[in-house]
Amino acid sequence: MSPGLSARFQKVFVGSNLKMYKTNRQTLDFLGRLQELTHDIPRSELSLFFLPSYTALADVCLAANHNLCWIGAQNMHWEEQGRFTGEISPLMLAEIGVDLVMIGHAERRQIFGETDVMVNRRVLSSLVHGFQTLVCVGDTQHELHYGISADVLRQQLKTALYGVTPEQLCKLWLAYEPFWAIGEEGQPADPGLANDIHGVLRQMLADLYPGKDQTVPILYGGSVDLENIEGLMKQSEIDGLFVGRAAWDPDRFNQIVRKTLSTRRLAQG
Ligand code: 13P
Repeated sequence: MSPGLSARFQKVFVGSNLKMYKTNRQTLDFLGRLQELTHDIPRSELSLFFLPSYTALADVCLAANHNLCWIGAQNMHWEEQGRFTGEISPLMLAEIGVDLVMIGHAERRQIFGETDVMVNRRVLSSLVHGFQTLVCVGDTQHELHYGISADVLRQQLKTALYGVTPEQLCKLWLAYEPFWAIGEEGQPADPGLANDIHGVLRQMLADLYPGKDQTVPILYGGSVDLENIEGLMKQSEIDGLFVGRAAWDPDRFNQIVRKTLSTRRLAQG
């Protein structure tokens, strides 16, 4: 293994957020092709997942081979039921067999005004209902410019995990998704910078949960593409990739998965 490269996990984590793209039919086609293309990769080496729109979730959960690919929701309300027009409850997601729930995506925080406290409520509820829970944190261009990204991210993470017990950590994944790196206008983070931030998050986990921090994978997301995977996956603190646009074509997603795996294997020697 090359110096400093972590063997924290035996596998890499690769997923895609489909955001508000693809209809039900298109998502089912995407699932079928993705499973077909990647079925030969041992899942002891890969954790593969994607997050369809709500209207596609039920059919995709039924059609998926959950041993090959986990299916997740892009958001979830913390209450089981109530006067929350337009929201989706943990019971609804559990009933259709969702594996994973993402909480606190940059677009939820930026466009829909989700606060750290709301993120915390959703995280606690998702964990109580037994979902693998993917918590996203991210800094803005402004915070990056003023050199306060690490402080902001520590605060986001500490608030998001308030009340989460050490026993619940096995159900937790983190993603660092800088707001300034996401989408067509975004610039992918420099791999060294991303690695440093992942280190900050890992240290925060160690402070909050002494001795337990190594159980939580931290994924990087924001303009990930075939061209920058190598640089990112050579970093010791990056356990996987969370991809938007570049993974919406299943053939390209398959290439991304394979490159992520091969880079990590090479780097580990
Ligand atoms: P892009 O890869 O399109 O920048 O999106 C990343 C993202 O938001 C994943 O959640």
